[in-house]
Amino acid sequence: MIVLGAGPAGLLLGNLLLAAGVDCVVLERSAEADVRTRARAGFLAANTVRILDRHGLGDGLHRSGRTHSLCEFRTGDGRFRLDYGSLGRGERHTVYPQQELVGDLLTEYTGRGGRIRFGTEALAVRDADGVRPSVTVRGPDGRPGRWQGRYVAGCDGRHGAARRSLPPGAVRRHHRDHGISWLGLLAEAPPSLDAVGYAVHPAGFAGHMARTADITRYYLQCPRGTAPDDWSEDRIWAELELRMRGPLRRGALIQRTVVDLESDVLEPLRHGSLFLAGDAASLLSPSAAKGANLAVLEAELLARALTDDLLHGDSEGLDAYSARCLARIRRAQDFSQWMIRLLHDLPENSSQHHIRRPCLETLRTSRAEQDWFAEQYVGV
Ligand code: APR
Repeated sequence: MIVLGAGPAGLLLGNLLLAAGVDCVVLERSAEADVRTRARAGFLAANTVRILDRHGLGDGLHRSGRTHSLCEFRTGDGRFRLDYGSLGRGERHTVYPQQELVGDLLTEYTGRGGRIRFGTEALAVRDADGVRPSVTVRGPDGRPGRWQGRYVAGCDGRHGAARRSLPPGAVRRHHRDHGISWLGLLAEAPPSLDAVGYAVHPAGFAGHMARTADITRYYLQCPRGTAPDDWSEDRIWAELELRMRGPLRRGALIQRTVVDLESDVLEPLRHGSLFLAGDAASLLSPSAAKGANLAVLEAELLARALTDDLLHGDSEGLDAYSARCLARIRRAQDFSQWMIRLLHDLPENSSQHHIRRPCLETLRTSRAEQDWFAEQYVGV
């Protein structure tokens, strides 16, 4: 069994296959130090924590993660807070930086003797329509190589080799560009609020999400085509304080990325012996922080299905894998799009232009809407 990519999807899959006794290798393009330090998402849904606990992989997040259940909306009409942990199903997030989770999964995997090759870039998946697929690679020394297995799991993200290797027409691609871009920032600064902050302002959206006691993630809506370094630190903090409508605890900006809000989902998530999970299967906009949670859920489903097939000759799980994942992906996608409409003033010529204010007003005043929001916001 060959797993491409050592993100949350690939490493959870590797751990579960190893624990079940399925022979596998993980091929990862980056060096180990990069994999362990790449800051990405950080909000784990309650179901994600349950999955990790079920397999004995939740110690780190219980030790150093913090539960979180409060969000605050700031608009020209005022501010309101939702304690979503006491709404809907009463579930909370666990804030645990993704690189910490990846580090835990990696340590566990290698500690149990799992095989992983860093600095090994998958170039293409070959013969996926047969029963002996293989992966061509460029190894750390630049030399070409080839791995062969019964199945290949593409957990190598949206621009990985798995997606690139799908023959034309093998799967459908559902792509939607929301026409909005965010400048994603990581600040070496303590959080400025005890809640996730969502600010809607005529100048554009701004968001605040705590990561740790000293690191905070911010998002700033920016014009399409903005480069990460176009705005000075002073301008960024001034824009953030303007849109968040209040002073913030400032600090050095240690990471900047520009994210175009899009969703990009493949269907089905399988081509013969090649299966897709995580961002390789579905990339959603970060507006509802569903990416890492879907990756964990899909990795568990895929691990069980592969184990049933390889160890017990039962292929029902593999046959149902794509439909099961897509049902969850579509719900997450709908909610991410709803969040986009809630948080942005869409162009005046858009049919959605007038939706935002009434949406926020209903969320502020209707308990039924708040219960629905809480369930969607923490769920996957
Ligand atoms: N060959 C080998 N490895 C590759 C290749 C390749 N051709 N291309 C990419 N990779 C590796 C990347 O270096 C990365 O370590 O695949 C891994 C993919 O990991 P993630 O991007 O974290 O994707 P995934 O595991 O699907 O997790 C999805 O993580 O950061 C979030 O936004 C993301 O929340 C989403 C979740």
